[in-house]
Amino acid sequence: MAAEQVVVHKGLEGIYFDTTRICHIDGQRGILLYRGYNIHDLAANATYEEVCYLLLHDRLPTKQELAEFDAALKASRTLPQPVMDVIRAFKDGHPMDVLRTAVSALGTIDPDVKDMSPEANLRKGIRLIAQFPTIVAAHERIRKGLEPVPPRDDLGHAANFLWMLKGEEPDPDAARAMDLDFILHAEHSSNASAFAARVAASTLADMHSAVVAAIAALKGPLHGGAAEAVMEMVEAIGEPERAEAWVQEQLAAKKRIMGFGHRVYKTEDPRARHLRELSRILGEKYGDPKTFQILQNIEKAMEPMRAKGIYVNVDFYAGSIYHYLGIPADLYIPIFAIGRIVGWVAHIMEQYSDNRLLRPLLHYVGPMEREWVPIEQRG
Ligand code: CMC
Repeated sequence: MAAEQVVVHKGLEGIYFDTTRICHIDGQRGILLYRGYNIHDLAANATYEEVCYLLLHDRLPTKQELAEFDAALKASRTLPQPVMDVIRAFKDGHPMDVLRTAVSALGTIDPDVKDMSPEANLRKGIRLIAQFPTIVAAHERIRKGLEPVPPRDDLGHAANFLWMLKGEEPDPDAARAMDLDFILHAEHSSNASAFAARVAASTLADMHSAVVAAIAALKGPLHGGAAEAVMEMVEAIGEPERAEAWVQEQLAAKKRIMGFGHRVYKTEDPRARHLRELSRILGEKYGDPKTFQILQNIEKAMEPMRAKGIYVNVDFYAGSIYHYLGIPADLYIPIFAIGRIVGWVAHIMEQYSDNRLLRPLLHYVGPMEREWVPIEQRG
């Protein structure tokens, strides 16, 4: 028998598995479009709520549509009591595990749990966008021995998250920084978590199940976990003057510098520009420019890696923004999830709308037709 000719695409690199209308990335030129709109225009002009509407409906909302969408989000911010009880029961878990568990719990009691119509899926998706910040903030309060802070209807999505997290009204710069961070994290095509969501959705599993799959995939350090690792690196470096030598040591030891490199971008990640600027502004505002300086020096020390297509990614400056906002490091990934949930919902709905089961192949390289040995004869 002739040997089978198989090309293995490890990591599915370079493989298109479907078409999409949600997001376009040009990794060579550093271009990112949500539904055709450039991320730089959205970062300069939109709110997160507007971006959510855009991603879910394939067009920008009118004033009235935005007001209705905003009202629907606000109406869903409060968590059902059983889910609050789940958060209390697992309060010592990692915030990402608590988020995943709370979403699983929500999936058992959502009012549309048995309805797979597009309308019901959109309602479920909007509820999840509203509920994510409440889960993360309530857990943070409970694990600190504080009572959860109820949402406030007079605050936008990002400002309300900071309010529920801290119990203090955020200043406008902090609220805008959070809003911009959510916009920049809202969507990124077939990254590992969106792909995981689409794999689950392709079996026609429900919205909550697919979102749980996405949360699980986001958790790892090669995906959502890098922002936290970047801030650990900043702490290990300690002083801006030490950054260059530290980076050289790591590279010489063949270690990766977190917050650099990307499967798709071979130039600077366009989201990094906005986060770099936010980090600089917040560093000055909160009288702590050192963190920003260390990051800048790391970036400078990594310049020779550009020849290999390794530039800063979205996670490099994101951690410093959260640090400046006084947010603990283990909330960095759940905050990524709060921004990204809308992208997952858009992908799940797109997958349902023209579904084909996602079922790639694995090329078997193990032994063939081994002889069965009874257990008494094995040794
Ligand atoms: N530091 C040093 N070297 C690197 C880095 C890095 N951050 N990233 C890639 N390389 C090197 C890697 O060692 C390899 O070198 P060689 O060819 O000599 O073996 C080469 O670049 C190609 O790396 P790869 O792992 O084949 O590339 P990939 O497309 O699988 O990697 C990545 C993408 C994001 C997993 C990787 O760049 C990485 O591990 N980065 C650090 C973690 C990180 O910042 N993750 C956040 C990604 S962006 C947000 C998100 O998607 O969640």
